[in-house]
Amino acid sequence: MAYCCCTSAPSSFHHLVTNFPPHSKRLKIPHQNRWPDGTQRTSKVYAYHGLKTPPYKLDALEPYMSQRTLEMHWGAHHRGYVEGLNKQLEKNDALYGLTMDELVKVTYNNGNPLPEFNNAAQVWNHDFFWESMQPGGGDTPKLGLLKQIEKDFGSFTNFRENFIEAALTLFGSGWVWLVLKRKERRLEIIKTSNAITPLVWDDIPIISLDVWEHSYYLDYKNDKGKYVSMFMNQLVSWDAATARIMRAEAFVNLGEPKIPVA
Ligand SMILES: [Fe+2]
Repeated sequence: MAYCCCTSAPSSFHHLVTNFPPHSKRLKIPHQNRWPDGTQRTSKVYAYHGLKTPPYKLDALEPYMSQRTLEMHWGAHHRGYVEGLNKQLEKNDALYGLTMDELVKVTYNNGNPLPEFNNAAQVWNHDFFWESMQPGGGDTPKLGLLKQIEKDFGSFTNFRENFIEAALTLFGSGWVWLVLKRKERRLEIIKTSNAITPLVWDDIPIISLDVWEHSYYLDYKNDKGKYVSMFMNQLVSWDAATARIMRAEAFVNLGEPKIPVA
């Protein structure tokens, strides 16, 4: 959902715009000096970034991730990042018109983050996380991605153990990622703290796991290990991962060794 914000507009002209394209750019509507009722208005009307919905219903990941968790995690935390970001963008014209990817990279500011970075990165991270899961997920990747995982981690079992270990050893709040390293042309597991996302290092994310406590506390209390195992066994979307690595291959000249795709 995106909304329009108009300065000095009569209250009747504040309205919601639903079904706005996700990750939409702020749109500048042509200048008009007066509202239809004749009152003066200021010059700019913007549409800001919207809250993208997960690609499944909020109860679709039951019983492994409850509707209650999705309502709180997506409906409150994720929404809060979107609303916080939009409030910040009202005050910073320099960030006008950037896509969410661009916003994350620009506000990271080479390791000296601008105030907008945390909200922008958390919006991006959560969008990516919802799309890293699917009802009926888990199991093992399809042939091409499986072969690449076996090449880079020795075996799928080894990868799985390393991913879980990374989540369990992450101190505080953060994320675990399977990324494609652009220069090295291989898959790697990395963990990031708070809102940091591997986009800022130009890695190509393939899968993410949110290990902030708000992602599992309602369902698993403080048992992070059970949550992470459930993610790997029941929820991770290898379909999404395969699509992402195929896209990566289209954008990155992988050369040899070429990442095999199913
Ligand atoms: Fe989260």
